[in-house]
Amino acid sequence: MERLQKVMANAGVASRRKSEELIQAGRVKVDGKVVTQLGTLVHSKNVIEVDGIKLEREDHVYYLLNKPRGVITSTSDDKKRKTVVDLIETDKRIYPVGRLDYDTTGILILTNDGDFANYLMHPANEITKTYWVKVKGILKADAIHALEEGVVIDGKKTQKAKVKLRRVDEKNHTCMVEITIHEGRNHQIKKMIQSVGFEVLKLKRERIAFLDLKGLKSGEYRMLTPKEIKKLYALSNIQKNRL
Ligand code: URA
Repeated sequence: MERLQKVMANAGVASRRKSEELIQAGRVKVDGKVVTQLGTLVHSKNVIEVDGIKLEREDHVYYLLNKPRGVITSTSDDKKRKTVVDLIETDKRIYPVGRLDYDTTGILILTNDGDFANYLMHPANEITKTYWVKVKGILKADAIHALEEGVVIDGKKTQKAKVKLRRVDEKNHTCMVEITIHEGRNHQIKKMIQSVGFEVLKLKRERIAFLDLKGLKSGEYRMLTPKEIKKLYALSNIQKNRL
């Protein structure tokens, strides 16, 4: 059983707040009867109508995509650029969980399950994300330490991160670092690297928690298994219990 406004929002009728307004305005029927009580619980078999139009309820789907460069992390784009949703063959109204920049590649989850998306993105759940970063210049120990302890970006200090120097290319004056964070601030990795005086040349997200890109070439995707979804939720529970 789920709250009516949540079912409406998940089906893409409107935001949860707007759905509440629709309910209160008497525009929603459950099994033929107008319902104005917020929080009314509905079953998957109940027929919901909004302004006389039957609501199509979608099964939840979960995809893991290896995002290529040059694709926008959005459901649509004014400039008609290709979006991550265009890469997945589905008739469901999926959207990306979080954001990768246009030029960032790597692991991205897409779903039509709003609760799952919120769960993954909520900072309290501390879901880790691991990035491979190609940096112009060679990071020294003091910069790595600063990145690990937290640097100020957009006026706010970042939380602790794990930073490992993986490769140094003296000849081309570049290095590869692996950075693990559990926040998801806008352009976070690029801004963190900038804050210590360097520039990101290439960025790839390699892992979200225990999920990686094994078996997925650039642009390919697969469905998450029920076991993986359960394991992601369990991770967050462990972390909640620790707080
Ligand atoms: N940090 C960034 O700077 N860009 C991304 O796409 C992801 C994390």
